[in-house]
Amino acid sequence: MKKIIQYIPFLFIILFLYYCTQPSGQDGTAENTEAPDSAMLAAETTYKTYCSGCHGAQILAFAGHRWKHGKERDSIFNSIKNGYPGTEMVAWNNVFSDEQISNMTDYILMGIEKVEKYGFQEERLESDTFKTELLTIELDTIVSGMVQPWGMVFLPTGDMLVTEQSGELYRIDKDLKMHPVSGLPKIMYRGQGGLMDLELHPDYKNNGWIYISYSDYTVDGKDTLAGTALSRYQLKDDKLIKGEKLFTGHPFGTAGSHFGGRIEFDNDGYLFLSVGDRRKEYENPQSLRSHCGKIHRMMDDGSIPPDNPFVGQDTVIASIYSYGHRNPQGLALNPTSGQIWSHEHGPRGGDEINIIKPAVNYGWPVISYGINYDGTTFTNEVEREGMEQPILYWIPSIAPCGAAFVTTDKYPGWEGDFLVGSLRFKYLNRCVVEGDKVVKEEPLMKGVGRLRNVRIGPDGYIYIAVEEPGYIFRLMPVEESKMLASK
Ligand code: HEC
Repeated sequence: MKKIIQYIPFLFIILFLYYCTQPSGQDGTAENTEAPDSAMLAAETTYKTYCSGCHGAQILAFAGHRWKHGKERDSIFNSIKNGYPGTEMVAWNNVFSDEQISNMTDYILMGIEKVEKYGFQEERLESDTFKTELLTIELDTIVSGMVQPWGMVFLPTGDMLVTEQSGELYRIDKDLKMHPVSGLPKIMYRGQGGLMDLELHPDYKNNGWIYISYSDYTVDGKDTLAGTALSRYQLKDDKLIKGEKLFTGHPFGTAGSHFGGRIEFDNDGYLFLSVGDRRKEYENPQSLRSHCGKIHRMMDDGSIPPDNPFVGQDTVIASIYSYGHRNPQGLALNPTSGQIWSHEHGPRGGDEINIIKPAVNYGWPVISYGINYDGTTFTNEVEREGMEQPILYWIPSIAPCGAAFVTTDKYPGWEGDFLVGSLRFKYLNRCVVEGDKVVKEEPLMKGVGRLRNVRIGPDGYIYIAVEEPGYIFRLMPVEESKMLASK
């Protein structure tokens, strides 16, 4: 593939503004110079603890922000105080006093003002090369100019299909040209919902089936109610044809988050789909009458495998394979064990990796290593009889998305490792696997971007999708000799 990285601007915000000090009058008394400073320091700590998980580690994230509810002081104050029901943004008036909210508002405004005054520092990556413990990796840009690439698959022709979360599907040809594909179902794009994952049938060469997950919706009066759905199509002349809807996750809800949406096939050709708990519907994950908060197992045509664990129990949804999940956005087949590995977003802390087994209850929201975003706890239990422990959990949350096992020999020393994207910390996490355990972790390529997906291409290389701005990169291991020669 043509290497065009040098010409792709790669946005980076210089952090020097972050610790900019507050101006203080030379003649001020201790009280009137210290008061605002300590209020800002407190606001900064609060921001880091309570807000950064969703809004980014740097307050500067708000400076480049497309404001939805207004950037005036009153609007920001209101946003924080009252939140937006049905979104991840809760009302914070139970947690903070008006004065604290006011200080946080000032803290945000101060951040914006500094950026406007001093300007964003846009920087090309000095180099597109990252050193890791074992290898040196160079990024090869495959796709640029997207916003939120979500699903990606490789067609036998060498072309690639990529979804944009807002509801577009593209075919990328061998010359890296993007061709829009038409014929998608109706999709709700809001919050974490939209067009999500893509997967090819294991026998795609012969039957041409492409599986697509997305947020389906209905309108009920003023409310839009949405849920996770799965359909399959064939592709002809950049058009999806012969659509069949295979799965609709009920109950639909107003929340714009926790759709899950990852698709994976195992070695026996069973189709797995992760469905999030649809946030705030706390009864979902533990109820076997709800599709939400589950990992489902189906035949390739959406029918129920006769050996599914809950088949034959009248009131139970028979596609359920495992339950007690929160928001799983990563599924990958472990090539060694043949088992499906999954990870899921916890609340504040408590993201998990699980090995998916039939009829097993993974415990959400009864047990968890996390706490609520507002700092309150919803359970004191981290384990309970009859509920499975994760094989690994992350505190703080890394916000995991996308998963793949390294199945090829292009990356000496990484064979068999489990790769997980971090949206929050913008790196690829290499989990070193021994049997059913993760024995070591290494964050790779820190700062590369909000990492949404990771896959192994037919050429044996690792491909990653990052968002806002959206790119797809191929990871090219650099030989030491080549590195030396170019010095
Ligand atoms: C769990 C995720 C989450 C956390 C934690 C969170 N927010 Fe939000 N916040 C959101 C989302 C999502 C929105 C957009 C809501 C919408 O779609 O209307 C938002 C919106 C906002 C807005 C309005 C932005 C606009 O475009 O108008 C402000 C200001 C804000 N948040 C500040 C904060 C502050 C300050 C904190 C910490 C006290 C915080 N948020 C914590 C998810 C979060």
